[in-house]
Amino acid sequence: MLVVLALATVACGAAATATPAPAPDPIEAPAAMADSTEAPAAMAEPTAVPEAIAKPAEEMMAKPEVGEMAFADYWNPPTDFYGPVVYGGTLRVNYEDPLEHANDWGAATGASSRYRGSTGAVLVMENPYDAGAPVIPDLAQNWDVHEGLDGVTFHFREGTAWHNGEPFVCEDARFSFETMITGNGLTASYMKSRLAHVVLEEMACIDDMTLKMNFNGPTGIPLLNISNRRGIVFNKAWFQAGGEDAMFQDVTMGIGPYKWAEGQSVGVDEQHFEKNPDYFIPELPYVDELVIFGILDESAQQATQLAHQTDWHWVRNWGQYQAYVDHDQIITVIRATRGNFRLWINARNEPFDNVKVRQAIIMSIDRDAGIRILQDGHGASGGFGYAPGSPWELPQEQLCSVPGWCISEDMEATRAEAKAILDAEGFDFERRYVFTVESDAQVTARATFLQEQFRLLGIETDFDSVETIAYREQEQSGTWGDFKPGNSTVVADDPNAGVAAFLRCDSTGNHWTPNGPCDDSIVAVLDQAQVALDVDKRQVLAHQIELAAMKQYSSFPVYWEQEAAAFWPEVRGYAHFPAPFGSYRKFMHMWIDPDRMNDTGNAGQTTGVPGGS
Ligand SMILES: *[C@@H]1O[C@H](CO)[C@@H](O)[C@H](O)[C@H]1NC(C)=O
Ligand SMILES: *[C@@H]1O[C@H](CO)[C@@H](O)[C@H](O)[C@H]1NC(C)=O
Ligand SMILES: *[C@@H]1O[C@H](CO)[C@@H](O)[C@H](O)[C@H]1NC(C)=O
Repeated sequence: MLVVLALATVACGAAATATPAPAPDPIEAPAAMADSTEAPAAMAEPTAVPEAIAKPAEEMMAKPEVGEMAFADYWNPPTDFYGPVVYGGTLRVNYEDPLEHANDWGAATGASSRYRGSTGAVLVMENPYDAGAPVIPDLAQNWDVHEGLDGVTFHFREGTAWHNGEPFVCEDARFSFETMITGNGLTASYMKSRLAHVVLEEMACIDDMTLKMNFNGPTGIPLLNISNRRGIVFNKAWFQAGGEDAMFQDVTMGIGPYKWAEGQSVGVDEQHFEKNPDYFIPELPYVDELVIFGILDESAQQATQLAHQTDWHWVRNWGQYQAYVDHDQIITVIRATRGNFRLWINARNEPFDNVKVRQAIIMSIDRDAGIRILQDGHGASGGFGYAPGSPWELPQEQLCSVPGWCISEDMEATRAEAKAILDAEGFDFERRYVFTVESDAQVTARATFLQEQFRLLGIETDFDSVETIAYREQEQSGTWGDFKPGNSTVVADDPNAGVAAFLRCDSTGNHWTPNGPCDDSIVAVLDQAQVALDVDKRQVLAHQIELAAMKQYSSFPVYWEQEAAAFWPEVRGYAHFPAPFGSYRKFMHMWIDPDRMNDTGNAGQTTGVPGGS
């Protein structure tokens, strides 16, 4: 029997774009992390930082408030769009890889997170409905960020039990984090580098319900890495008995919203998970059963979804997209991810050391044409470090205040303007310039588009095609030519957790080092943001950094990649996460409303679903 519950407190006023209820707990940055991590970029001349921003770091540090968070305060499904929450039913997820193994700790894959995301729990988690919202409780009911921002103490929920009924105690969490930090017993600890700031020797259980972590310095984002979906707490005795084999093969010992259905083995491409009736968040999950299908063949994925043998599909390639968009019943949501295609201009090389020259080149690139030609129309234009649609995105007005960054209404006119700038700067149009390109068909295709754009401006380039290893070396040493294209991903919406990889002088993703020039004024603002706990303050600083980086015209996202999800109309509650492949993997935020199963009129990509654009 399906019980329809209109959760009044939850449903009330939960608009698609609703900002989270003011959280009594420490405010945290959005946390979606990309699967792949790359990012580089560039800075040239120092940028002036307004006085108001360049305050001493201490002023940015505020003692966080401590408090409880009630479920209804942090869990706000977009019921304005989807209608009231419904309990019961089965959600069938169409996943694109074989479900080979479940070792999310030591050999992380997309498949391993399909096993562990729904059956496990982290200390604090992302808000699945709003990537810009503060993190919300998971195993920890609440937490105190230490004065000085150099640690955090987690308070666990009373009465939390493992799937076999054993009580959860702090030592399970402490030992899990110790194992992630040391990597002892793991093939390759996914979390190790992400927990480098945690002082292992000082991590301690104050009692069975309280875990203290100290950091090796203050940070305004004390919970960001810890909320990583792979920071999953495991049962100590289980790991001690079964070792990493248990992590690969045994999904019985979980603590999360779903239990692995009995009689299954890992490696089968259809996995069943049942609602955990003793889940420590009693209001969740919504559905009784979650089934994940691992379907490698991309036409089989689509056929299965179109035949309604699965309910939800993360669109794997743009060839699949149109069939979903055209479908009268299937809802298709699209939005920008944090992955982008960038052009770098080497400001170490004359005449590109002249910012006006760089500006003219950036201005002249027809980004709409790039999206049309290279992405089949599925791309988005935006600023330097935050994906379009991100809550951290620079407001349009500010974006357009820097010439060339907002889309031109008249590319011909803009190009003429750019040409005039180059003429005024005495640009040498007779010379041929070096375009360093990784020898990869896709990269070359993308670079060819840019080469054409340069040609429209009268600039001729020659490709210097370089094998991957040598290419990476040139990137690191700054010895690449005048231009270079490349993929990059900003892993988080945060100045330090994300954009800093492009900008900090000591970052390996900053391709300006080791030969400089380094922008110390931007680094100074990054340092301010590093200890700004308040998310609003950090966002002000983030926008400052964004504008300064844009004005350099050295690293330019030609377009931001997009991703889409397609689901049958009875699937409700889904919201997009702004990270490549970053849909929320616990699958407990979605519900099935059988009354909506025959809904029609869903052709076209949606604009109303949270995160849709
Ligand atoms: C978070 O993880 C990154 C690596 O992904 C690491 O560079 C950074 O120091 C960590 N620390 C904090 C406070 O987020
Ligand atoms: C660049 O990104 C695209 C889209 O995410 C991916 O398909 C491609 O393999 C990437 N290319 C390289 C060279 O990393
Ligand atoms: C949807 O259509 C099917 C087939 O016509 C029917 O059996 C079912 O009752 C309908 N469901 C709803 C909620 O209208």
